[in-house]
Amino acid sequence: MPDQSPELLRELHLLTREGNLNADALRKLKQVNHLMGLLRPAMEDVQARHPSPLVVDAGSGNAYLGFVLYELFLKGATDGALLSIEGRPELTERAKERAARLGFSRMRFQTAHLDAAEYPERIHVMLALHACDTATDDALVAAIRHGADHVAVVPCCQAEVAAQLKSQRPQGPGTMSLLYQHPWHRREFGSHITNVIRALTLEAFGYQVTVTELTGWEHSLKNELILGRRVHRDNRRARVQLEALLAEVGVQPKLTRLLGVTPKARAGVEDAVSEPEPEDAPTRTSPV
Ligand SMILES: C[S@@+](CC[C@H](N)C(=O)[O-])C[C@H]1O[C@@H](n2cnc3c(N)ncnc32)[C@H](O)[C@@H]1O
Repeated sequence: MPDQSPELLRELHLLTREGNLNADALRKLKQVNHLMGLLRPAMEDVQARHPSPLVVDAGSGNAYLGFVLYELFLKGATDGALLSIEGRPELTERAKERAARLGFSRMRFQTAHLDAAEYPERIHVMLALHACDTATDDALVAAIRHGADHVAVVPCCQAEVAAQLKSQRPQGPGTMSLLYQHPWHRREFGSHITNVIRALTLEAFGYQVTVTELTGWEHSLKNELILGRRVHRDNRRARVQLEALLAEVGVQPKLTRLLGVTPKARAGVEDAVSEPEPEDAPTRTSPV
């Protein structure tokens, strides 16, 4: 990408000392740059609307994503910062040193578990790429509580809901539980239903959601990208659907527990409530 410096690629060990990209590095760079393309509208939106936009990268690992994003969108801007939050202190330390060498002075780092991190009062963009198991839920909770305009998460492995499916299998005459009778199916179904609940929860809290494939990441089984853009204060219809879904499947993931959404069986969910009211003008679809 233009604006991508050899210094950064060398720091991230993507470029050899001789200045070459090997096949592996090239693939990795293409993947990250593809993701950058998908994040560009969100970044441009917050940079146009906020004088000092704050991006949080939750479960940042080596913070590769943050470094590339910072260079492309924040380095040349007058303001705006990126906060990487990671549970492993050695990764935070290494990334901090890297940022200092690169002179990326508005990159900040915090070592913390995502459900106990100190989040800034206002977050503009929340990112979580392959944050393990319920760490994605912690990131989504923080995004919702801190009013993030945009969220982008690529969930990772999921175990919590698969365990709930096992212990709370419905006893009635329905055949739905056959979908997750076997451990393997429980894991797959648990993962799928978790992401359905994540997308619907974002909608219930006022986000317009797109679920898509993170193309170029075919080597990973975890390539589902959930993008959310906040356009309403909340969405009653999605909330009712979410409560009904939790009741029907009999699960209560960390995300909905922390946000106080409880299962409620309802009939005729589709007709129960009208379309959500945008915050301002009736036809508004731009971010709030
Ligand atoms: C699979 S790595 C992904 C790293 C990075 N986002 C990326 O895509 O390259 C997941 C990272 O999330 C961190 N992590 C997992 N759960 C976490 C939690 N609850 N709080 C903070 N960090 C967490 C792990 O330590 C690990 O570095």
